[in-house]
Amino acid sequence: MEVNWNMDAAMKNGFPHFMLKEIHEQPEALKNTILPRLVKGLPDFGDDGIPDTVLKQCSQVHIVACGTAMHAGMVARALMEPLLRIPVTVSIASEFRYDTPLIDSKTLVIIISQSGETIDTLAALRLAKACGAATLSVVNVKGSTIARESDYVLYTHAGPEIAVASTKAYSVQLAALYMVCCRMAFVRGNYDREEAGDFIKQLLDAIPAMEAMIEKRDEVKALVTHLINKPDAFFIGRGLDYAFSLEGALKLKEISYIHADAYAAGELKHGTIALITDQVPVIAIATQEKIFSKTVSNIREVKARGAFVILLTKEKSKIEPGIADVQINIPDIGDRFTVFPIAVVLQLIAYYASVGKDLDVDQPRNLAKSVTVE
Ligand code: G6P
Repeated sequence: MEVNWNMDAAMKNGFPHFMLKEIHEQPEALKNTILPRLVKGLPDFGDDGIPDTVLKQCSQVHIVACGTAMHAGMVARALMEPLLRIPVTVSIASEFRYDTPLIDSKTLVIIISQSGETIDTLAALRLAKACGAATLSVVNVKGSTIARESDYVLYTHAGPEIAVASTKAYSVQLAALYMVCCRMAFVRGNYDREEAGDFIKQLLDAIPAMEAMIEKRDEVKALVTHLINKPDAFFIGRGLDYAFSLEGALKLKEISYIHADAYAAGELKHGTIALITDQVPVIAIATQEKIFSKTVSNIREVKARGAFVILLTKEKSKIEPGIADVQINIPDIGDRFTVFPIAVVLQLIAYYASVGKDLDVDQPRNLAKSVTVE
């Protein structure tokens, strides 16, 4: 008997691409990363061997990573600094490694890497250690070089990520960083037990919110017709929404080859708005109550110049008619946690754009899953 057994298809578990499969695996990956580390509703890294003293004693945090992992760091920075009230800096590893960074024994350097093998990130880790900083790595691959060489490791539990474009590794990096932030706030006195518990409850609310957006995939699929024949796309947002948009632009360009860039919405007027002409797609992210009206003003500005506006916002947001050409609503979860459902939408936009252009979704040209050479 001949068995027609295709390893690749079997591993895709019925999905046409690894990327779509991995997008769907995110809620489970989040649960695997968060739940085993909750003790009485609070994050606890005792089993990870990360002592509270490391989180308590630092006077600054420096996050270093590449690519998508660096974008997770950008979100973490926007979350951590206002809460912890200490300086939190993000560096691109390939820059950091040749820099003379202002770090010392009072600095906590957080290294983020899915593979744990990226050469620039590894060199950054070694530099941080040479400067005397405490190093904590957020890594997905067990026993990888970065995990082995770091003082402390917080493993994410995404499982293997095959598609070159990172999806589930990003969301679990965020989940791990949100937990670190919460634990830091608790041990440093920014949060009492109740506030820390509430933060975690809101983090857990993000899981069904991600599921809800996966369910809405056909809505996202329908909107990519407005993107796939366009040479450029712009992502805009403010604050946390800006940090999310960086990853949205990277995802789109890496697998659809549409030139995409992310801009802090308030910065458009200083140059970029010159590029907004008739039907240029602008993906606007507006999930942060505090600066919502400011982002809406920026959306009006691009709309007035003819942009095709795809708005990602919360269900409860009140938007005047005619501002957005297409609107995708995410559930009404806490503002600081909207990255999780928004990430799903941004990943699906890139995925369906790549499929719509008949490209190799899982193995885009010129890119590698793990970059172990300089
Ligand atoms: C490559 C991958 C990206 C990834 C980056 C960092 O460029 O294509 O998806 O974000 O490396 O990888 P790391 O394994 O360190 O997270």
